[in-house]
Amino acid sequence: MTVAQIFDSMEYGPAPESAAEAQAWLEAHGRMFGHWIGGAARAGADHFDSRSPADGTLLARIAKGDSDAVEAAVTAARGAQEAWAAHPAKRARALYALARLIQKNARLFAVLESLDSGKPIRESRDIDIPQVIRHFYYHAGMAQIMEEAVPGRVPHGVCGQIVPWNFPLLMAAWKIAPALAMGNTVVLKPAEWTPLSALLLAELSAQAGLPAGVLNVVTGDGETGAALVAAPVDKIAFTGSTEVGRAIRRATAGSGKALTLELGGKSPYLVFDDADLDSAVEGLVDAIFFNGGQVCCAGSRLLVQEGISEDFHARLIRRMQSLRVGDPLDKCIDVGAIVDPVQRDRIAAMVDAGGGTVHRAGGDLPGEGCFYPPTLVTGLSGSDPLMQEEIFGPVLVSTTFRTPAEAVQLANDTRYGLAASVWSENINLALGVAPAITAGVVWINGANMFDAAAPFGGLRESGFGREGGPEGLAAYTRAPHPARQARPIAAVEAPRAGQVRAPALDRTAKLYIGGKQVRPDGGYSRPVWSKKGALLGHAPQANRKDLRNAVEAARAASGWSAMAGHQRAQILYYIGENLSARAEEFAARIAEMTGGSAREAEAEMSVAVDRCFTWAAWADKHDGAARDVPVRGMALALKAPVGVIGQFAPDEVPLAGLISIVAPAIALGNRVICVASEPYPLAATDFYQVLDTSDVPAGVVNILTGPHEELAPQMAGHMGIDAVWSFSGRALSQVIEQESAADLKRSWVSDGMARDWLGPEGQGARFRDEATETRTVWIPYGE
Ligand code: NAI
Repeated sequence: MTVAQIFDSMEYGPAPESAAEAQAWLEAHGRMFGHWIGGAARAGADHFDSRSPADGTLLARIAKGDSDAVEAAVTAARGAQEAWAAHPAKRARALYALARLIQKNARLFAVLESLDSGKPIRESRDIDIPQVIRHFYYHAGMAQIMEEAVPGRVPHGVCGQIVPWNFPLLMAAWKIAPALAMGNTVVLKPAEWTPLSALLLAELSAQAGLPAGVLNVVTGDGETGAALVAAPVDKIAFTGSTEVGRAIRRATAGSGKALTLELGGKSPYLVFDDADLDSAVEGLVDAIFFNGGQVCCAGSRLLVQEGISEDFHARLIRRMQSLRVGDPLDKCIDVGAIVDPVQRDRIAAMVDAGGGTVHRAGGDLPGEGCFYPPTLVTGLSGSDPLMQEEIFGPVLVSTTFRTPAEAVQLANDTRYGLAASVWSENINLALGVAPAITAGVVWINGANMFDAAAPFGGLRESGFGREGGPEGLAAYTRAPHPARQARPIAAVEAPRAGQVRAPALDRTAKLYIGGKQVRPDGGYSRPVWSKKGALLGHAPQANRKDLRNAVEAARAASGWSAMAGHQRAQILYYIGENLSARAEEFAARIAEMTGGSAREAEAEMSVAVDRCFTWAAWADKHDGAARDVPVRGMALALKAPVGVIGQFAPDEVPLAGLISIVAPAIALGNRVICVASEPYPLAATDFYQVLDTSDVPAGVVNILTGPHEELAPQMAGHMGIDAVWSFSGRALSQVIEQESAADLKRSWVSDGMARDWLGPEGQGARFRDEATETRTVWIPYGE
């Protein structure tokens, strides 16, 4: 094309980025890659092809890791971990050097990433790689200040990390940088379609001075990933599909391995009639056509207010017509290739079967290669599969709403809860709607903004755990393990006939549901004996129906979660006061039931009262932070209650243990269903009398007694419960983690180690973290 012709048509000419350096790097390896284990390349046994999705050319042959390769990598990581953890400042230097090296090789990384994944060079050059660099700098700093940033925490040990193909290097950086900063070592498994940039990073890590074994990369497919999940690692961090996330939750159940899951989404993009429509259209292009819509938090569900929908759709379609689809290495391209023909065909099949009115754009697609046009589908109803299922391609579905309340209801009509965008020029409206949306991240007048300082992660079936900011560090550290194994405690057996000491008065306890004392549905109760053979009373045996009633009561008490922390604090203080007034009576009861000394029981009561005061104190103080992000605006990392938490109380100190888990949960805005200690249930049934006289609204605390083994799977599988905590036996932990995979609810379960409930282990930061989830709201701020 001549210059005169270009002026005539005003068409963009091609502006290709050179692939020479990346191709030379591939050639230098003979286009054949092994794993990276113990600081050196290790040849694989089997191999598979990695192809460029833009034109199908073979880029390289990649090793398919088997369990031997995984084992070797885990062994290398284990061997390197202690020394790596010992020197925070040395870690900081090495991570800083790695950040510098990535910066120096930014162009090579960007081209390699675009070749391998098909994403436009504009994005890999201007977004992916700069974000990778920022992540390593940020976390180099976190390594340096670890003791102050996460006081008293230690690394997990060896982390297995499995990442997807949509942001191959960025997702790897999100996982590697915080893990290494906190003193863990890593075995990373990149996605089978996009392993190259992780292999280049591994090579550079040696140059940056990371000791051998600190960062290991095993390439391969889902089988390799499954082998890593099964390997003796201490933590698994996964980003990918909800289905695989669920399988990993089940596979790790009861293993004691820490787990974070960053899964799929169907994120709503709300446009109100007072929005700046042209900005909202531009934001939408970033939300759904960025990386060809292959983004977990893509704004893939447009909800637009009815009065402006025609105008907005017209502007959107006009803008879509100007998007250029084509060669990812062309700097003028907006939408590149889809990662693999398998994924392209998956997208096409979903759209073809999905109904609605389909508007395609993007001009002529390249004749060959793996491309899909930017697409808008209108005329769908809320329950249509295209409105509900993650498409993971450049396909936007759209519907309208009339009122803000309807917008919120539609936004939340999804099993996911990853992200949302809200567009309005009215600050009252936008900031009013934001907290009502069930999502881990909300962008006000923006989309797809990320930063190392801003926590990112989902609710519901979008997974659990956060990446980024101090919250992300919590996922790569833990409290030091207590040294002792927990000792199981059994109920006191019934005395032999003739040795029974009759009670003065018949005392049949009840369940406490929705603020009322109720008989158990099945009508069964169990006698509770003192060690001296006295019948202390009868404890009701709750069943599935009682649990269902308790969940209903807890869900109905949602006003508690909306209440100000100050008000919740007043009620906790009141509980503490009333408990203190009856401390002697409670202590006597505990001593009778457990057979412990009066002094021990008094110590337990003193802690029980103290916990009420401690958590009353925290009720209005666990409140989040504003994060400094390098864009116009700020990210608010807010703390929100988890919702309804199901709990199994510990046996060691039956009343102080129960209060130690109920008090933080309710202080921070949750409603609870707490199953009391099975051998010592009566402390809890006395405690509900205190609740009754302390102005606790009905349904906020529900107390059940009964067989843990029977109630645990029901609780973990109940869709109305948002999280389960269990400090009952280790066997329960496995069942709870297994069953909670159904709706991917959060769980915090006993690892079988003894916990000193009367000391600092009975309270602290972990309780606050487990009782809340971080919701990150990005707001415009400043110029
Ligand atoms: P995937 O979840 O199968 O793959 C992600 C990673 O997990 C890859 O590294 C893969 O090798 C590994 N993996 C697969 N099976 C495994 C197993 N059983 N154990 C351990 N690791 C395993 O995602 P896939 O099949 O590539 O994409 C399917 C759909 O998933 C997409 O269409 C999209 O809807 C969704 N997806 C969502 C992502 C997100 O970021 N939320 C990322 C990738 C896919």
